[in-house]
Amino acid sequence: MENTEKKQVVFSAIQPSGTITLGNYLGAVRNWVSMQEEYNCIYALADLHTITVRQEPAQFRRNILDAYASIMACGIDPEKSIFFIQSHVHTHAEIAWILNCYTQFGELSRMTQFKDKSAKHADNINAGLFTYPSLMAGDILLYQTDKVPVGADQKQHIELTCDVARRFNGLYGEVFKIPEGFIPQNGARVMSLQNPLNKMSKSDENVNGCVHLLDPPEVIMKKFRRAVTDSDACVRFAEGKDGVNNLMTIYGAVTGKTMEQIENEFAGKGYGDFKTAVGEAVIEELRPIRERYERLIKDKAYLADCYHKADEIALKISSRTLAKVKKKVGYIV
Ligand code: TRP
Repeated sequence: MENTEKKQVVFSAIQPSGTITLGNYLGAVRNWVSMQEEYNCIYALADLHTITVRQEPAQFRRNILDAYASIMACGIDPEKSIFFIQSHVHTHAEIAWILNCYTQFGELSRMTQFKDKSAKHADNINAGLFTYPSLMAGDILLYQTDKVPVGADQKQHIELTCDVARRFNGLYGEVFKIPEGFIPQNGARVMSLQNPLNKMSKSDENVNGCVHLLDPPEVIMKKFRRAVTDSDACVRFAEGKDGVNNLMTIYGAVTGKTMEQIENEFAGKGYGDFKTAVGEAVIEELRPIRERYERLIKDKAYLADCYHKADEIALKISSRTLAKVKKKVGYIV
């Protein structure tokens, strides 16, 4: 029998709000890379989302190109996947407006990320911060997406996306595929090296808490050597040992070893040896990525060629859904 089965569509996006971190890599981008064979992958730099928090223009521009090159350097293959820049594809802003009119104030008010970010940026609680989930829903729904790999903090936004899609379909018929969000199993949740109760973040007030994808080896080693542990002096995964648990998670994610194997490997050894081993493993994992990044960032023409091609395909695919949506709503198209 002829194989007419089409690959499922995966969509995901990341904000270029600063450097790409080890947390972004182990939690998200590494999975993007590994899904490229099995799925029809569409990835975006969500730079429209980023201005919900004020950006300095020159820095923002650098961050966008840097993030694009960094993520490509992780192994996104432009021959296999579509990796585009959200602000270059106008259908996103357009569908976001329409979806805003099918999303309730009450629903958006319940988003925990909105509440958290409002508290954090109390001087700039703009309407974009509030309607951010409608833009995200648009990103996903435009591509008739089957699967959306996300971090746990985005689960609520995916649920809202499904609610809005179902509501729209209920009114007008099957316009949107209802996507399925999932938290990748091998996606490690990496915490700050200095405060392991918080997620690793580029905005960590302690610079040693966050490892950036492009940190040079000696900086990576220094950060791991200074990582917060505990007074138990035993490498084991247990409640209350957040610092050690985090280091074990990172080591496991990079080497593929289980927690038990790691415990055995470091039985009778001190934290010093352990931290050095984690630092070395991370350095080796990131070395080829940094080298590829250095080559890519020098070749602006190649990068531009990659995103222009991807932008164009994204526009073509998303325009089909947008046209359908507009027609259903009643617009003359
Ligand atoms: N909001 C996501 C984040 O900050 C980024 C994002 C934007 C996204 N649009 C998306 C993720 C669509 C998945 C699907 O992490």
